[in-house]
Amino acid sequence: MQGFAGKVAVVTGAGSGIGQALAIELGRSGALVAISDVDTEGLAATEQRLKAIGAHVKSDRLNVTERETFLQYADEVAEHFGKVNQIYNNAGIAFTGDIEITQFKDFERVMDVDFWGVVNGTKAFLPHLIASGDGHVVNVSSVFGLFSVPGQAAYNSAKFAVRGFTEALRQEMALAGHPVKVSCVHPGGIKTAIARNASAAEGLDPEALAKTFDKKLASTTPEKAAQVILDGVRKNKARILIGNDAKMFEVLIRALGAGYQSVFPKAVARLTPPAK
Ligand SMILES: NC(=O)c1ccc[n+]([C@@H]2O[C@H](COP(=O)([O-])OP(=O)(O)OC[C@H]3O[C@@H](n4cnc5c(N)ncnc54)[C@H](O)[C@@H]3O)[C@@H](O)[C@H]2O)c1
Repeated sequence: MQGFAGKVAVVTGAGSGIGQALAIELGRSGALVAISDVDTEGLAATEQRLKAIGAHVKSDRLNVTERETFLQYADEVAEHFGKVNQIYNNAGIAFTGDIEITQFKDFERVMDVDFWGVVNGTKAFLPHLIASGDGHVVNVSSVFGLFSVPGQAAYNSAKFAVRGFTEALRQEMALAGHPVKVSCVHPGGIKTAIARNASAAEGLDPEALAKTFDKKLASTTPEKAAQVILDGVRKNKARILIGNDAKMFEVLIRALGAGYQSVFPKAVARLTPPAK
C-alpha cells in the first residue's frame, strides 16, 4: 500500500462537498494539492483550510467544461510542482426532470460538466501522469452510474458515460503497460450541497427536491467519503463504492439484472415530492 506523502494530487470541484473533503484529506496525508472550482469563495475556504494544516497548495478558478483552459492548466500544474501523480475528476452538477419535460440544453449542460469535464481532465493530465511513473486517474461517477431511475436521465446518462470511459481507460493503461492506475467512484447519498446547487425541469420545485435529498437520501459525510476514496486509491480498486446504500444497490442490481427497472420506479415515486 502506497501513501500520499510527496505525491502531487489535482482535485476539481474542490470548493465544496466531496472535493473539499478530498483536498483536505490529501493535504493531511502529505500530498501537494492543486485545487480548482468555479466557485471562488468555496475554493478560497478550502485553500485556507489547507494552508492552516501546512499543506502545499495551488489554487485556481477552473471551469472543467473549458477544454483549452483545462489543457493549459494541466501544463501549469506540472510546471509548478515538477510532476503530477493523481487527478480527481470530481466536479459535478445534478439535475432532475423526466425526459419528456427536460430541455435539450439541460441534457447538454449536465453532459458538459459531468461527462466532458471528466474527459477533459483525464486527457489533459494523462501525459503528465504517465510521465510521473506513478499516476492515478480517479473519476467520480455515482450510484446513478450503476442503475437508472426515473427523473434522472440527464445525470444517469453522464454518470454511466463516466463509468464506461473510466473502465475502458483502466484496461487501456494496463494493456499499454503505462504506470497509471484508474478508479471509478460511485458514491451513494453524501451530505453535500449537490442537491441545493442542483436545478430541475420547469414545474418541479428544486427546493423541495433538495429537502428530500437532504432528509431521506444523504447518509454519508463528505469526510467519510474522502477517506473511502483514498483507501480505494491506495488499494488500486477499479470500483470504489461509498456508503452502505451504494453497496446495497450494487448487490441488488447484480441480483435483479435488468429486472430492477420494474422494481425501482415505485420506490423512487415515494421519494419524489409532487410538482409545484
Ligand atoms: N452528494 C452526493 O450524494 C453524490 C452522489 C453521487 C455522486 N456525487 C458526485 O460527487 C461529485 C462531487 O459532488 P458533491 O456532492 O461534493 O457536490 P457539491 O455541489 O457540494 O460540490 C461540487 C463542486 O463542483 C463545482 N462545480 C460545478 N460545476 C463546475 C464546473 N463546470 N467546473 C468546475 N467546478 C464545478 C461546484 O462549484 C462545487 O463546488 C459530483 O461529481 C457529484 O455528481 C455526489
